[in-house]
Amino acid sequence: MTPPTSSLRMALRAAPLRSVQSSHAPRRAPSSRRALQVFSEGNGRFIVGGNWKCNGTKASVTALIDELNAGQLSGAKVDIVVAPTFLHIHTAMAGLDASRFQVAAQNSWVEDFNDPTHHYDSNTGAFTGEVSAEMLEDMGIPWVILGHSERRTLMGETDAIVGKKVAHARFHGLNVIACVGETLAERESNSTLEVIFRQLQAVADEIDDREHSSWGSQVVIAYEPVWAIGTGKVATPEQVQEVHAAIRKWLADNVSAEVSKATRIQYGGSVNAGNCEELAKFSDVDGFLVGGASLKGEDFIKICNSSAVHYKAVGRM
Ligand code: PGA
Repeated sequence: MTPPTSSLRMALRAAPLRSVQSSHAPRRAPSSRRALQVFSEGNGRFIVGGNWKCNGTKASVTALIDELNAGQLSGAKVDIVVAPTFLHIHTAMAGLDASRFQVAAQNSWVEDFNDPTHHYDSNTGAFTGEVSAEMLEDMGIPWVILGHSERRTLMGETDAIVGKKVAHARFHGLNVIACVGETLAERESNSTLEVIFRQLQAVADEIDDREHSSWGSQVVIAYEPVWAIGTGKVATPEQVQEVHAAIRKWLADNVSAEVSKATRIQYGGSVNAGNCEELAKFSDVDGFLVGGASLKGEDFIKICNSSAVHYKAVGRM
């Protein structure tokens, strides 16, 4: 895959951006405030990510790989990307059926977030404990998850850092799942879309290849409301569809109509085998990013198979 042009290197506009407020798991799910909106559905292939987070032993990872390989996929088209820890990536790549499962890293490094003279191709070196996009590229790891709310809140990653990480990973040809999402306080103060647009803008500011179709096919947006992650409080389908439609419109207005259509928008936050089909029916839900349920092979395969429900609902069988 061709990396973006050198203009990316020039695209270092380090405008200070507010970071997402941290928030702890809420006790209740916020209610839906607005009516369902539809902008224009995407045309990308359904994509389901399994974010294994900081979980796994040699034995449990091997068992999960076996469960996934044994899983019966429905036959409906679906991209499946699982994200083990860095330690378990090799085992996953060696063991998973590569015709059905791809692998992602959960993070990659970029240096000098605020240095306007920074070059995107110098991120290996004295950065103890980090793994760079260059290394992921070298190891043939095709995907990386960036901007997950746990990294934003626990590791202090700002919108600007996430934008630079996405651009740097793209520069090295990686496919990116870029996560956005609001806290409970932000939703309750009606600033959900403002927060999400700010997070998207930070990515758009750094990806200077926005005319390239790769923005659409190789950057997946995962909408993950912070209050729904790991809490069992799944967003309602209407809440999900509303935000996804708004993201797609934002992409059309701020990047291009082609990118808006081609970009896959995943929902993440307490997706499980029981609620995936209801969520998959919505036209702008192009897949899921799954945490807890991705550690159970059978459940995860069922979530992947909700692609068939999605295509049927949107008339793309
Ligand atoms: P969850 O996590 O499915 O456990 O809520 C989702 C995520 O963090 O990607």
